[in-house]
Amino acid sequence: MPTPAEPVRIAVERYVSPEWAAQEADRLWPRVWQLASTTDHLSKAGDFYEYICGKLSVLIVRTQYGDLRAYQNVCLHRGNELCSGSGTDLQEIRCSYHRWCWDLDGKLKEIPSRRAFGVLDEDEFGLIPVLVDTWGSLVFINLDLHAEPLIDFLSPIVEETKWLRPEEYATQAVVTIALPCNWKSGIDAFSETYHVQGIHRQMLASTDDVNGPQIAWDRHGKLNQPYGIVSPRLRDGASDQEIWDSFCATQGERVGKPSPPGPIPAREPEESVRDLIVRLIRSRGQESDLDFSDFSDGQIIDLHQYNCFPNISPVFLIESVAVVRTRPGSTPDDCLIDLFFLKRIALDAPRSQPLDVVIDAESADVGAVFNQDIANLRKVQRGMHQPGFTHLSLSPIEETRICQLHRNLDHWLSPANDD
Ligand code: FES
Ligand SMILES: [Fe+2]
Repeated sequence: MPTPAEPVRIAVERYVSPEWAAQEADRLWPRVWQLASTTDHLSKAGDFYEYICGKLSVLIVRTQYGDLRAYQNVCLHRGNELCSGSGTDLQEIRCSYHRWCWDLDGKLKEIPSRRAFGVLDEDEFGLIPVLVDTWGSLVFINLDLHAEPLIDFLSPIVEETKWLRPEEYATQAVVTIALPCNWKSGIDAFSETYHVQGIHRQMLASTDDVNGPQIAWDRHGKLNQPYGIVSPRLRDGASDQEIWDSFCATQGERVGKPSPPGPIPAREPEESVRDLIVRLIRSRGQESDLDFSDFSDGQIIDLHQYNCFPNISPVFLIESVAVVRTRPGSTPDDCLIDLFFLKRIALDAPRSQPLDVVIDAESADVGAVFNQDIANLRKVQRGMHQPGFTHLSLSPIEETRICQLHRNLDHWLSPANDD
């Protein structure tokens, strides 16, 4: 790859200024497709889920006809919020203030003392619709009724990931953590592997953090990260035992969680540690009735990470997915990070209601590697406020997916690009 002429400079205002955050609130969030929930949260008629992003609140429901509907979460009488949180067995959407009421499909059902309002057109008083669609188990919404379809917005990721059979991943839990940093700082930490040598050094003996191929499409990005091999950053390499120890320390659950890692399990002749790990993951899949026979060794062991504009990164392993999402907080210095944990299950296996938890950053324990990311993100915003720091300097190669986020933000925030 040719050496770039210079770093990409990004003005720090994008991360700290209320004016920039206001532009995002005005021009980005009300118009872009956003991951809101999962089909496991909304599996039965009457299930509902409130998705919040900054000041926006969207109510998603599963109707009695089995389809998903979404509405702006507002009562058409005097603007009260209709529902909060999530739940089940919703029969109707009734405002608690003066008890106006709608069917789950958004049609006006009842207004107490209706005649006192005079003539009132039913069509004018349906709930305000929001687009809703799914990719695998993930539910997305868009408040812009003229937006392109989700499948077009996500292109080419839906096609690209078909081989992973995304519909087989079931949501186990969603963990939400409030962090003292901008939402972009949060997702930036999942848009490059340049920081592995900084804060995840224990991964270096079992991860190629440098040469994993990255793609930045127009809007979204991708990284394939090989595991079970040594980082080029370790000049002296690593022994097979060190590769095994590193893999077990960072992804041990994939091979039965040996803790401490102990000696390398018995190997077949000429079998590398990477080959051994592939074999162990395959046999664990078999034990869980999962069919991994179509997958190549690289597909089995490596990380297949996507960055979907603006704020999510689905990180696929063959047996599980972690989807990272960040959402803006009440100031540019705050955000929420949500970690969706999904596990591949047999297609006919029962799926259950996910566990949703909110935890504080100090006590968050979300796995060794995520813990390091969370601890680091608690430090990034204060630095950005120092008066001598005027811009971020990004590598166009190693941080290409962050550069791409900013190129897209330029596009979305500029009225000149409105259709
Ligand atoms: S604000 Fe909802 S019924 Fe009055
Ligand atoms: Fe990280």
